[in-house]
Amino acid sequence: MRSLIDISTPVGVWLTEELSLVSDVLFEHLINKHPDVNTLCHELATYKGKMLRPSLLLLSWRVLNPDTETPQSVRVAAGVVELIHLATLVHDDVLDEADLRRGARTINSLRGNEAAVMLGDYLLSSAFLLCSTIKNPDLNLLLGGVTNTLCAGEVVQLSNRNNMDLTQEQYFQIIRDKTASLIAASCEMGGVLGGGGEVQIRVLREFGEKAGTAFQIKDDLLDLLEEESLVGKPVGRDVEKGKLTLPVIVFLQENPDKKSVLLDAMVYGNTKTLREILHGAGSVQVAIECVNELVTSAVGGVVGEFEGPAVAQMCVMVEGLHTD
Ligand code: FPP
Ligand code: MG
Repeated sequence: MRSLIDISTPVGVWLTEELSLVSDVLFEHLINKHPDVNTLCHELATYKGKMLRPSLLLLSWRVLNPDTETPQSVRVAAGVVELIHLATLVHDDVLDEADLRRGARTINSLRGNEAAVMLGDYLLSSAFLLCSTIKNPDLNLLLGGVTNTLCAGEVVQLSNRNNMDLTQEQYFQIIRDKTASLIAASCEMGGVLGGGGEVQIRVLREFGEKAGTAFQIKDDLLDLLEEESLVGKPVGRDVEKGKLTLPVIVFLQENPDKKSVLLDAMVYGNTKTLREILHGAGSVQVAIECVNELVTSAVGGVVGEFEGPAVAQMCVMVEGLHTD
């Protein structure tokens, strides 16, 4: 997703300033009395991306509180969701044996798997500790639920490696659990802290779930179709790791007679052929349309309930996933 904060608008300026404060909260919270821990956390600098999840949490709160000064609890909660996200990335790079993220070396490639696993654990426990300082048990419960869900999603994905019969339903369940759950929870936390009613919180959550699902399909498309230099991380890893993604599942469902041709291209790592087969059969297009539909539905749901600059900024961020 491109950086999509419009700094010519007051809400864009507000969000940019808030994200900087969230970053301070997060990195100050990670400081430990043991220098070894700090040295390892220092390597995280390159993992810091566009802070999508904190942005959506802040904006979800803002939608409900357009004229109020931001309470520290909202910044802390935004730091919490980013910490969880960082923990999942550090662990994910171990699972995927990835040596690059955002164009820089991953923790596992710099410091080994053991250090990466421990850093992920440290980030995860730091997130829960930080969340507890807000003293809102509902948020801790929400966070417990979402970390549980995303770990389960990864377990299910792992046990379905090389499962050529994976259905679309199973694929959607996996990506909702491993990716969309945290984005949905970020929106929900913003809504809870913002004092939203039941319907408002549900609408925000659904926006996050649809956006998160679209985000993962798009991420999978990048892994399949793009070059490493463009995405700043290894590509083709899903095929290598036996992870079936949407275009492949669609192709196998619609062309059972051509299963062996596709399998050959996958097994021999023939990316060019694989891309040609999937493009030629229209399976890539099906996945692109699915992303677009999810984006339209996410935006439609949230603008049906809210109005104002904060919701407009939320929509712009998600519309960046749309492919013309
Ligand atoms: C991205 O997958 C992976 C996730 C969104 C979730 C990863 C979760 C875990 C590894 C479980 C650990 C959980 C905790 C709470 C520490 P991807 O490989 O498609 O994304 P990528 O292209 O960015 O690598
Ligand atoms: Mg990965």
